[in-house]
Amino acid sequence: MAGKVFFSVSMSLDGFIAPESLEGVVSPERQDDPQLQRWAAQWMELQQWIFPQRFFRENLKLGEGGEEGRDNDVARETFERTGASVMGKRMFDLGEQAWPEEAPFHTPVFVMTHEKRDPWERPGGTTFHFVNDGIGTALDQAREAAGDRDVRIAGGGATILEYVNAGLVDEFSIALSPVLFGSGIRLFEGVDAGRVALEPVRAQPTQRVTHLTYAVRER
Ligand SMILES: NC(=O)c1ccc[n+]([C@@H]2O[C@H](COP(=O)([O-])OP(=O)(O)OC[C@H]3O[C@@H](n4cnc5c(N)ncnc54)[C@H](OP(=O)(O)O)[C@@H]3O)[C@@H](O)[C@H]2O)c1
Repeated sequence: MAGKVFFSVSMSLDGFIAPESLEGVVSPERQDDPQLQRWAAQWMELQQWIFPQRFFRENLKLGEGGEEGRDNDVARETFERTGASVMGKRMFDLGEQAWPEEAPFHTPVFVMTHEKRDPWERPGGTTFHFVNDGIGTALDQAREAAGDRDVRIAGGGATILEYVNAGLVDEFSIALSPVLFGSGIRLFEGVDAGRVALEPVRAQPTQRVTHLTYAVRER
């Protein structure tokens, strides 16, 4: 049986999944750039719930130990249900510089891009495939690779929106973080609200964030 197509992101209370676009700013030579440092500080605040979690720490090889509770379960369950991911090129570009050599997906990842590039295989089971012919093709390949497991639309905002507006997302989860950005990459900027209806599935508050899950239906 085919799995679901879902996304799962951390979002600020005012609706942003990342600070302002960092195009041209991120590079190893510019670690001291104040703009980059401000971006990183905001990003850390947004993601503050996940860094202490045991599963996250183990998966990124950040060290033993960590918190175990609902936040940790959410991180682990999200990973375990995912048989393949689809992501946009801007998310990939940031990750290419930030992920450890053993990238944290451990499954095939299909990167939506106009750039032609050969597959990039990392140790630990992650291979990035670069897809140039549309979101449908990327999803077909991801479904095939995922088998019975689910396909995660990993991000970022532009890519998630394409899939939502095309009616291709079954379900999504948001970790609603207690931070305000004021500006940045808004999750639902440009959503086809006349088409998309939501059905609440779960709401689970923890000390750090509120985990919200919705099923997506066509209006
Ligand atoms: N808060 C969270 O949980 C979370 C999760 C994931 C990501 N993020 C953040 O999201 C941000 C990136 O999001 P974003 O909205 O700026 O960009 P994005 O969705 O990651 O990437 C957009 C780019 O992907 C390529 N692309 C997308 N659709 C395509 C298509 N149909 N055909 C060909 N290429 C296509 C294009 O790149 P080219 O034309 O250059 O090839 C496009 O400019 C990052 O800051 C990341 O950190 C946050």
